[in-house]
Order: sequence, then structure tokens, then C-alpha cells
Amino acid sequence: GAPVEVDTSKLAPGQMMVVEWRGQPVWIVNRTKEMLDSLRQVDGEVSDPHSEKPMQPDYCRNDTRSIKPEILVAVGICTHLGCSPTEKFKTGDTAESGVADNWHGGFLCPCHGSTFDLAGRVFKSKPAPDNLVIPPHKYLSDNTIIIG
Ligand code: FES
Repeated sequence: GAPVEVDTSKLAPGQMMVVEWRGQPVWIVNRTKEMLDSLRQVDGEVSDPHSEKPMQPDYCRNDTRSIKPEILVAVGICTHLGCSPTEKFKTGDTAESGVADNWHGGFLCPCHGSTFDLAGRVFKSKPAPDNLVIPPHKYLSDNTIIIG
């Protein structure tokens, strides 16, 4: 498939957009500082906290699984059986406690209940074996990403 160019200039902090790449949804999330801080709070609860499995390009094997710390670019397909998880960004909402006790926002797969944090890292004891895939991408300019 052809690379996809994405303009993130209108993506406000805390918002997410979805683009299609190779027939798959790719999520782009502009993470707030609070969202980024939440990653460290769940390091002990995700199964591959340091992204040691090859689910991302080397340039995204870091604390935020991204090139720019705030911008997450991830394939929105569950690594279990391929459903598309739903974003759950609300924090401090115990109505979401079916998601996780210590929920800081992330993604919930409706099919079998896998949960992922705001870097696409899968929580322990969930059916999905791996973190969400980070696709190959690069920045052409400050607000222009090429995926693929
Ligand atoms: Fe997502 Fe099974 S497909 S948990």
C-alpha cells in the first residue's frame, strides 16, 4: 500500500484521529502531559513495559513508544484476534473500573476485554499477547506525518 500523509495541525491535546493505512485503522493521539505521566504509573501493570517485543520500529522503542513524546501513532487492531479497540480516555471514572482498577485512560477491546494504556501497551492477564503495533512512520515537518 501507498504511504499515507497525515496533517496533525488541528489535533488538539487529548484528541485522537483515525486514518486508514493498508486497510487498517491507524490512531494518532495527541497526548496531554497528564496522559503521558499516566504511563509511568502503570509500568508495573503492563506485560511489556519496555517494549522489548518487536511491536514497534526501533525509533519508537522508548518510554512513550513514539517519535514525538506527545504524539502516539498506533495500529488500532487488537493483537489478540484483530478487533478494533475503543478509546477510553476518561480518567478517575470508576464506571470504567471494569476496564482496570487503576485506570488512567487508554483503549478497551470490546471482543474479549483486552486493555491497553495510552502507549498501546497491553495490560497483564489479558487475552492480547502483545502491545499494539506502531507502524513505520516519520515526520516531514512539525505537523506532517508519513505513515508507511
Ligand atoms: Fe481483542 Fe480478543 S480481539 S481481546
